This record gives sequence, structure tokens and C-alpha cells, in this order.
Amino acid sequence: MTHSIKFWAVVPAAGVGKRMNADRPKQYLELADKTVLEHTLLRLLQADIFTAVAVAISEEDPYWSELTVASHEKIIRAKGGKERPDSVLSGLHAISDQAADDDWVLVHDAARPCITTADIHHLINALVDDEVGGILAVASADTLKNVNANNILGTLDRTHIWRALTPQMFRYHSLKTALESTVGNPAITDEASALELQGLQPKIVEGRPDNIKITRPEDLALAQFFMTQQ
Ligand code: CTP
Ligand code: MG
Repeated sequence: MTHSIKFWAVVPAAGVGKRMNADRPKQYLELADKTVLEHTLLRLLQADIFTAVAVAISEEDPYWSELTVASHEKIIRAKGGKERPDSVLSGLHAISDQAADDDWVLVHDAARPCITTADIHHLINALVDDEVGGILAVASADTLKNVNANNILGTLDRTHIWRALTPQMFRYHSLKTALESTVGNPAITDEASALELQGLQPKIVEGRPDNIKITRPEDLALAQFFMTQQ
């Protein structure tokens, strides 16, 4: 029996933001009038495509329940995990009794509040008929060097190098299987790498370079600037 394919979002938001070096996890820092996490979730909800958005939140998190968006009817709270892939897997488990194997899941970092509705739809339109799925990515602007200590061993062919962003869009079952079979593997830094290890070939879809991940203190002002430009 066929069914209509649904779209789900999973947002890992259980990190501590060590590199940000702030007094709270970076997803709760203020950007304009809202926290980073609220911007991110409101933009996903505005895309008006997701059946639900599962958000992985640390069990010790005192900030989440203070947010208005926490009680939104399309938001499902999941348990945060030890590492990012564990949090994503927990988000997948939280929708397991509603999601079908071939439904699409878009995983998006809480720390990327500048995601646009247009880029979400661009990714979906590009991949909706694909077998495997893929990710938003941007071409590298700088010349890239292969380095050992401070010695340059060579120059990489830039045409083959892309920076992986989120959302990353895969089928529910294949994403869950890929993440479950790579639990604890430190090489898995995004969803695509888990699927690549299964021998699958995710696609890249060119995204906007302003979809930055807030990582270090200077990124907050940059995100604010991008938001005013959008
Ligand atoms: N994340 C998560 N669970 C973890 C670790 C990270 O849900 N155990 C989330 C973060 O909240 C963030 C996203 O994964 O939205 C990307 O991770 P990263 O930028 O590395 O965030 P942090 O791990 O919080 O930052 P840092 O590595 O500097 O500590
Ligand atoms: Mg991290």
C-alpha cells in the first residue's frame, strides 16, 4: 500500500557549546530578540512542511521549558545524547511510532539560526525524488592546503571540496540504521558520513553561505549581521 511521504525535522540541541565559552549553552544565547534555538525552530516551523520537529534537549537543561516554542503543537522533546549523533538518534526514536520508513527526515543543527525557508525548500525540491538524499553544502572559497605540522604537502583540487552544512535530508529508516550501526564512531561528524560508511552516496545541494554554525564567540555578531541582511 502506498502512503503520502511525510517530512520530519530533527534538531540536535543538547550540546554544551565548549568553544563558545559563554555562561550557558550557545543555543540559549540571545540574538536580536530571541535565543538562537528559538530562531532556528521558528524558521523550521515557518517552512510549513514538517509534520513535527523533534528537538533533542539535555536532561539537565534548565532553559528549554522557559521558551514559548517548547509548547508548540509541532514540537516534540527528545532526550539529548552523549555526542551529536546520539542526540540525532534520540530524536529519530521520539518519532518512531509516527514516521514511516521512507519518510524524509531533515536534521538541522540548533546552532544554525540563519537557515532560510528558501534553502529548506531548495534542498527538498532537489532531493525529493532521490533514492538516498543529501545535504546542503557550499563550495570552498579559499585555496586548500594539505599540511603536516606546518609543512605544506600539496594543494587540494578545490573543485572537489565542499563544506557540509545542515539540513541533511535522508529517509527515516536508512538514517536510523546508519546511525545505529556507527554509534561511538568518532569519524561520524554529520549524518551524511554515517550513510557514506554504509556504501551509500548522498548528494550535495548548493546552499547559502550565510547558513553558518555558531561555534566561536565572534560568530554571534556575524549571525546577527546575516539576519539583518536576509
Ligand atoms: N549537539 C547535541 N548533542 C551533543 C552535542 C552536540 O545535540 N551531545 C548539538 C549542538 O547543540 C549543536 C549541534 O549538535 O546544535 C552541532 O554541534 P556543535 O556545534 O559541536 O555544538 P556543541 O557541541 O554544543 O559545541 P562544542 O563542540 O564547542 O562544545
Ligand atoms: Mg560539539
